[in-house]
Amino acid sequence: MRHLACRFVRFRKKADISKRATMKKRLSRPVTILTFALILLFNLSSFAQTIPTEPEAISAGEALFNGNCKSCHRVKQKLVGPALAGVEDRAPSVKWIIDWVRNPAKVIASGDDYAVKIYEEYNKSQMTAFTSYTDEQILSILAYVKADAAKVDQPKGDNGGEKPETPGVPTGYLNAILIGLVVILVLLLIILGLIINALKKYLDQRDLSEEDKEVVHSKYTINSFVKSSGFIFIVIFLVASVTFKNVIDGLYTIGIQQNYQPRQPIAFSHKIHAGEYEIECRYCHTGALKGKQANIPSANICMNCHSQIREGTNTGTTEISKIYAAIGYDPATGSYTGKQKPIEWVRIHNLPDLAYFNHAQHNNVGGIQCQTCHGPIEEMDVVKQYSLLTMGWCIDCHRKTDVNTKGNEYYDKLLELHNSKKSLKVEDIGGLECAKCHY
Ligand code: HEC
Ligand code: HEC
Ligand code: HEC
Ligand code: HEC
Ligand code: HEC
Ligand code: HEC
Repeated sequence: MRHLACRFVRFRKKADISKRATMKKRLSRPVTILTFALILLFNLSSFAQTIPTEPEAISAGEALFNGNCKSCHRVKQKLVGPALAGVEDRAPSVKWIIDWVRNPAKVIASGDDYAVKIYEEYNKSQMTAFTSYTDEQILSILAYVKADAAKVDQPKGDNGGEKPETPGVPTGYLNAILIGLVVILVLLLIILGLIINALKKYLDQRDLSEEDKEVVHSKYTINSFVKSSGFIFIVIFLVASVTFKNVIDGLYTIGIQQNYQPRQPIAFSHKIHAGEYEIECRYCHTGALKGKQANIPSANICMNCHSQIREGTNTGTTEISKIYAAIGYDPATGSYTGKQKPIEWVRIHNLPDLAYFNHAQHNNVGGIQCQTCHGPIEEMDVVKQYSLLTMGWCIDCHRKTDVNTKGNEYYDKLLELHNSKKSLKVEDIGGLECAKCHY
C-alpha cells in the first residue's frame, strides 16, 4: 500500500512538473514576444532619432528648409538665428533639436541651460514654433543641413558667381558692321581724291580753253553745298520725319510708365534681400498669393530681421536706421519710443482706376511667376517697371497663355465640353471680356 501511495505521489509530482513546464512555456511565449517588441520599439525609436543620409531625405529636407527656415537661418552663415551647420554636435541631443523646433518657447521655459543660453545670445528673439512637424521631417532638415555643411564651397567663376550675362552678340555684330562700313567709306574717299588729283594733273597738261580750265579748278566750297536745293530738301525731310515719329511714339506712350524707376525713401535693395539672401517674395509681399494687392511690407516685417541686423555692407547704418526712425525704435536700448512715422514708399506699378487686376488670380490660380510680369526683381537694386502694363499687354498674354487646368475638376469638365481642344487659353474662359477687367 505504501508502495502504491509512493508511486502515486511520485506520479503526481511528475504530472505537476510537466504541467508547470507547459505553464511556464505558455507564459514565456508572450513574455518573449513582449521583450522582442520592446527591443524592436527601442531600436525603431533610436533609429528614428538618427539623422538619415538618403538623398530622398536630404532633398525633402532642403525643400522644408528653404520654405520655412531660410528666412532666419543659413547653413554656414549667421542670419537672424545661428548658422545651423554642426548643430547636431553642439545641441544637447537630436531629440532636443526635435523638441526645440516643435516648440522653442516650451524648451526655453523648461529652464534648459542650452536653450536659455542661445536665447540670450540672440537677444531673446523668438524662433517660430513648427508644432505640426513630424520627427521625420525635422530629421530630414538636419540631413540636408549636414549634407550642405559638408559641401566644399565651389570657387566662384570669373564673373563672381553671377549669372552669365546674355551674350552681346546682336549689338557687337552691328557695331562691327558699322565700323567696317566707315572704314570702307574713308578708303573710298581717299581713292576718289587720288583719282581726282591724277585727272586734274592730266587735264593741266592738255591744251584747254580758259572756260574749261575754270571748271577744272573750281572748288566746291561748303557754302555752295549748304545752299544747294538738294541739301536743303534732305535736311527738311529728315527733321520732319524724326519729329513726326516722335510725336506718334509719344501719343502711344501717354500713360505708359515702362522703366519708371523712382528713388525710394530707404535704399532698400531687392538684389540683396530677394537675390543674395533669397528671401521669398511672399515673406514681404504677403498678399501676392491671397488677394488683389501684393502689399508693400510694413516696417514691422523689416524688424523681424533688422532688430538684429543693424548695419549693411554697402550703406552702413544710414539706411537701416531710417527703419528705426519710422517705427520709433531705439537700437541702443532695444525699446520702442512710440513715435512712428510711416515710410513713404513711392508706388511704381499703377493701373488706372478703370482697370481691375488681381494678384491671387494670376499667381495662385494661374501659377504665373512674379518675374513674368515684374522682370528679374531679384537682380534690381532699385525696382523699375519692367512691363508695359497696357491693355494690349494684358490681352496679348491672355491670348497666348494656357490656363493652369491641372488637377482641377471644373476645368476637366470644361475641357470635355470643348473636346476639340487640347488646352484652354485664358481667352477661352472669358479673359478677353471687357467686364472682367473693367468695372
Ligand atoms: C523667425 C525666425 C526663425 C525661423 C523661421 C526659424 N528659426 Fe530657428 N532659430 C531662430 C533664432 C533667433 C534662434 C536662436 C535662439 C533664439 O533666440 O530663440 C534659432 C535657433 C535654432 C536652433 C538652435 C541652434 C543652435 O545653434 O543650437 C535650431 C536647431 C533651429 N533654430 C532650427 C530651425 C529650423 C529647423 C527651422 C525651420 C523649420 C527654424 N529654425 C526656423 C530663428 C528662427
Ligand atoms: C525683405 C522684403 C522684400 C522682399 C523679400 C521682396 N520685396 Fe518687393 N518690395 C519690398 C519693398 C519694401 C518695396 C517698396 C520699395 C521699393 O520699391 O523698392 C518693394 C517693391 C516691390 C515692387 C514694386 C511695387 C510698386 O511700387 O509698384 C515689386 C514689383 C516687387 N517689390 C516685387 C518683388 C518680387 C517679385 C520679389 C521676389 C523676387 C520681392 N519683391 C521680394 C520688399 C520686399
Ligand atoms: C528676412 C530678413 C530680412 C528682412 C525681413 C529685411 N531685411 Fe534688410 N537686410 C537683411 C540682410 C541679411 C541684409 C544684409 C546685411 C549686410 O549687408 O551684411 C539686409 C540689409 C539691408 C539694408 C542695407 C543694405 C546695405 O548693403 O547697406 C537695408 C537698407 C535694408 N536691409 C532695408 C530693409 C527694409 C526697409 C526692410 C523691410 C521692408 C528689410 N530690410 C527687411 C535681412 C532682412
Ligand atoms: C500677371 C502679371 C503679374 C504677376 C504674375 C505679378 N504681378 Fe505684381 N503687379 C502686376 C500689375 C499689373 C500691378 C499693378 C496693379 C495695380 O496698379 O493695381 C502689380 C503691382 C504689384 C505691386 C505693387 C502694388 C500692390 O499690388 O501692392 C507689388 C508689390 C507686386 N505687384 C508684387 C508682385 C509679386 C511679389 C508677385 C509674385 C508673387 C507679383 N507681383 C506677380 C502684375 C503682376
Ligand atoms: C503673363 C500672362 C498674363 C498677363 C500679362 C495678364 N494676365 Fe490676366 N490672366 C492670366 C492667366 C493665366 C489667367 C487665368 C487664371 C485662371 O486660371 O483662372 C488670367 C486671368 C485673368 C482674369 C480672370 C479671367 C476669368 O475669366 O476668370 C482677369 C480679370 C485678368 N486676368 C486680368 C488681367 C489684367 C487686367 C491684366 C493686365 C494688367 C492681366 N490680366 C495680365 C495671365 C495673364
Ligand atoms: C485683360 C484685361 C482687359 C480686357 C479684357 C479689356 N481691357 Fe480695356 N484696359 C485694360 C487695362 C489694364 C487698361 C489700362 C491701360 C493703360 O493704362 O494703358 C485698359 C484701358 C482701356 C481703355 C482706355 C482708357 C483710357 O483712359 O485710356 C478703354 C477705352 C478700354 N480699356 C476699353 C475696353 C473694351 C471696350 C474692352 C472689351 C472689348 C476692354 N477694354 C477689355 C484691360 C483690359
